[in-house]
Amino acid sequence: MLKNTEDSYGLVAIALHWLMAISIFSLFGLGLYMVELTYYDAWYKGSLDLHKNIGMTLFVVLMLRIVWRVINITPKISDESASKVEIKAAHYAHLALYVLMTILMLSGYLISTADGRAIDVFGLISIPALPISFANQEDITGNIHEILAWTLILLSSGHAMAALKHHFINKNNTLVRMLNVLATKSLSINTK
Ligand code: HEM
Ligand code: HEM
Repeated sequence: MLKNTEDSYGLVAIALHWLMAISIFSLFGLGLYMVELTYYDAWYKGSLDLHKNIGMTLFVVLMLRIVWRVINITPKISDESASKVEIKAAHYAHLALYVLMTILMLSGYLISTADGRAIDVFGLISIPALPISFANQEDITGNIHEILAWTLILLSSGHAMAALKHHFINKNNTLVRMLNVLATKSLSINTK
């Protein structure tokens, strides 16, 4: 139930996947909203703090997710009609999503610590700045952060559309097994 099997994702992978998907879309919306605020808006500081706090928490969750993926089996692609090219494309898309998430969060950390100040995560843990910094760090990492955020959202939207295509058009259990731990092959909605 907790761990993945050859055919299905376990509870931990499913929970981490959806927790992160919802948080990433929310952080994207919050990010676009907060950069439009001015110093005189009531939410100017609060929205940035919330973005940074959730972002850093998500970074820890991402590290746990990567460890969990490495020590677990990854279920095989459930679409039996998938070509070798499609299987490779899905594999590289997942890898790209992990890489984008990691660099996006690291770039956020580098923007927030460019002035040498630590990030106080929910007032509980203080994450210090790196002992070294570089010229225009805030602007450069800010631009990288913005580009990566859009890239991640576009790629994950394509990824979500692919999952919906598998569900509604190919009618296999690709999406169901990322929603339900009990979705083994026997519960597949595949009618073939
Ligand atoms: C997956 C997680 C994240 C997403 C989707 C995300 C998304 C965004 C977006 C869309 C913006 C607005 C960019 C713009 O239009 O200029 C933004 C800005 C920002 N983000 Fe993130 N972010 C994430 C994680 C983080 C993390 C972990 C931190 C740092 C702790 C962070 C710190 C910042 C800061 C400081 C800004 C303001 C940049 C500026 O003023 O130009 N973000 N983020
Ligand atoms: C920011 C949003 C998202 C990110 C970053 C993301 C990322 C990922 C990653 C990295 C995997 C591979 C899991 C692994 O094997 O380690 C995955 C799998 C999956 N995701 Fe997402 N995802 C997102 C949103 C969504 C949405 C909205 C849907 C559905 C509408 C979805 C459906 C799936 C499905 C069905 C799988 C399993 C694919 C398979 O078995 O081959 N994801 N996702």
